[in-house]
Amino acid sequence: MQTRLTIPRPDDWHLHLRDGAMLAGIAPESARHFARAIIMPNLVPPVVTGAQAAAYRDRILAVTGSGFTPLMTLYLTEATDPADVVAAHAAGIITAVKLYPAGATTNSASGVRDFDRVRGVLDAMADAGIPLLCHGEVTDPEIDIFDREAVFIERVLDPIRRATPGLRVVMEHITTSDAVAYVQSQPADLGATITTHHLVINRNHILVGGIKPHYYCLPVAKRETHRQALLKAAISGDPRFFLGTDSAPHADDAKESACGCAGCFTATNTLSVLAQVFDDAGALDRLEGFVSRHGPAFYGLPVNDTTLILEKTDSPVTYPARIDTGAGPVTVFDPGFPLYWQVTQEI
Ligand code: DOR
Ligand code: ZN
Repeated sequence: MQTRLTIPRPDDWHLHLRDGAMLAGIAPESARHFARAIIMPNLVPPVVTGAQAAAYRDRILAVTGSGFTPLMTLYLTEATDPADVVAAHAAGIITAVKLYPAGATTNSASGVRDFDRVRGVLDAMADAGIPLLCHGEVTDPEIDIFDREAVFIERVLDPIRRATPGLRVVMEHITTSDAVAYVQSQPADLGATITTHHLVINRNHILVGGIKPHYYCLPVAKRETHRQALLKAAISGDPRFFLGTDSAPHADDAKESACGCAGCFTATNTLSVLAQVFDDAGALDRLEGFVSRHGPAFYGLPVNDTTLILEKTDSPVTYPARIDTGAGPVTVFDPGFPLYWQVTQEI
């Protein structure tokens, strides 16, 4: 039985760090184990210019110190200036641009309604090699929430990719077998992130035996067959699939509410949970690719040259149930099964 794993330090290719007191409270949870992270721009107000991204990056670094590299993104709006995007990328301020369909999720009101209005930005991004990160859900009220990802692929994503040859795209936090199949059917300029929690929960976890607000996120977890398709993709060794935790903190009172916010906060125990999931699937040897190698390959960045050691213990490892922040307590994701793997060393 393998009880020790040494891997290049992982990266998180989709992370929400927020701002102010929340940022100060939760950023160390990611910086402890991850070398780099793609930072989501859905602040209030959103990060829409290169200057705002640079200022936000400095606020993150002030909390984490230089041992952690935030890879910044811009929030795409119908008013985004292609020249600002290209200049921010050329200056090394941003790594990618995030597309939120307006109304799809937390702080997405400034997102895109009419995709034709961002054509110019997408063309400029394709020319400059700047990846587009998609929140892949349609917002049409007629479309059932469990179908919104599959419909997005057909109505929005595939047409955008056909109209913009050369555009590198990441389907963020995929939740369906439809998304897995679409990525597998396309060339390597399309990748997908998979979260920790979508490898663990299905929709029953949210709804059976009482509503569990801390399992509610967007895209919402789907039925078990979809979770299995995600797991199969994550452990397949296919480099188009890589970790993006979508760790998304909300204070407990905002989650445990009559209209609770979407987001699972997994930063604290993500690597423990993932090692357990991969071990249980008999695929420990594939963890390194998923958390440390496939993401850098997609983004054209080097694999981290520092390492991290995970060890399997005899009795379950425990984590704090919540992280106290100046913006209120944030509940840590409970996978619902014991965790025997823990990070023991970083070199
Ligand atoms: O569950 C989610 N939470 N999904 C998102 O797309 C946004 C995120 C957040 O910012 O809270
Ligand atoms: Zn997200």
